[in-house]
Amino acid sequence: MPVTTAMSSPGNGNMLLGVMGDPIAQSRSPIMHSEALRALGISGEYVSLHITPDQLGEAVQQIRTLGFRGVNVTIPHKVEVMAYLDEVDESARDIGAVNTIVNTNGWLTGYNTDGIGYVRSLKTEVMPTLAGTKIMIIGAGGAARGIAAALLKENLSSLVIANRTADRAQELAADFSGKGSVTGISLDQFGDHLDGIEVVINTTSVGMYPCVNDTPVDTSLFHKGLVISDLIYNPLRTRLLQESLDRGCRIHSGLGMFVYQGAYALEYWTGRPAPTEVMWQTMLESLGSSCKD
Ligand code: ATR
Repeated sequence: MPVTTAMSSPGNGNMLLGVMGDPIAQSRSPIMHSEALRALGISGEYVSLHITPDQLGEAVQQIRTLGFRGVNVTIPHKVEVMAYLDEVDESARDIGAVNTIVNTNGWLTGYNTDGIGYVRSLKTEVMPTLAGTKIMIIGAGGAARGIAAALLKENLSSLVIANRTADRAQELAADFSGKGSVTGISLDQFGDHLDGIEVVINTTSVGMYPCVNDTPVDTSLFHKGLVISDLIYNPLRTRLLQESLDRGCRIHSGLGMFVYQGAYALEYWTGRPAPTEVMWQTMLESLGSSCKD
């Protein structure tokens, strides 16, 4: 039975929010959401919660007991947390992972805002419409699954998934076969499949701080005008993006995805439009940069 608590409904005093992960000290969600709450004039707190895998079930129960309005869930809990929720929204079921929990009077619903956050960022910053486009994703892990699920709702012409381990790319493509034209290939062959591709998206962590000299693919095959998108936002301009820019490509960093996944979560919790400009600026300042890629 759901537990009803005095503080679990919005508008009832202080809105308690947080992020559960292990490790969690590096998370920039608390600073981004704290500024967003302030901008909305909502009295509340967004806290870091260091939860180890063996504590996860108890921690989810504490959302109800302590009256948290909601939490974000990050690595390594996005899949396992689903077992402890009352309901999992279609957005999260499609992907098989939850990154946002909403507590409505003790009833916990899981959502996934990563993929839709990414698509909102890509459309807002680079390509207003994705219908009819051919897109390639590099990587076939959890991040790739979320992005693929959201992209396939945009009526793409086709989606190619290129992965170091070709079997994983083919398995992911097969999982989405009913949702559009999806092919899985080996990363070694990505150059053979670039014809007609308009957007290439790196979903791997190759190039992320501190290994900033790494790049997942050979950019010499990229043509002018191609959009190169990287889910990484630290650094804001990865080696992949810098080399692509030098070749005349248009580039898109992962910062927007982070901002918009948080924006959707905040909108679920507060029922109000998120202050995305404030969230964006807060992240730029936190990353120690003033340039918007
Ligand atoms: P996430 O949930 O962040 O996507 P993951 O499930 O561990 O993490 O997936 C990581 C992805 O990055 C995989 O597609 C992985 O390729 P493999 O399936 O072959 O392991 C890819 N990846 C990791 N390191 C890589 C590297 N050095 N070169 C190319 N791809 C790499």
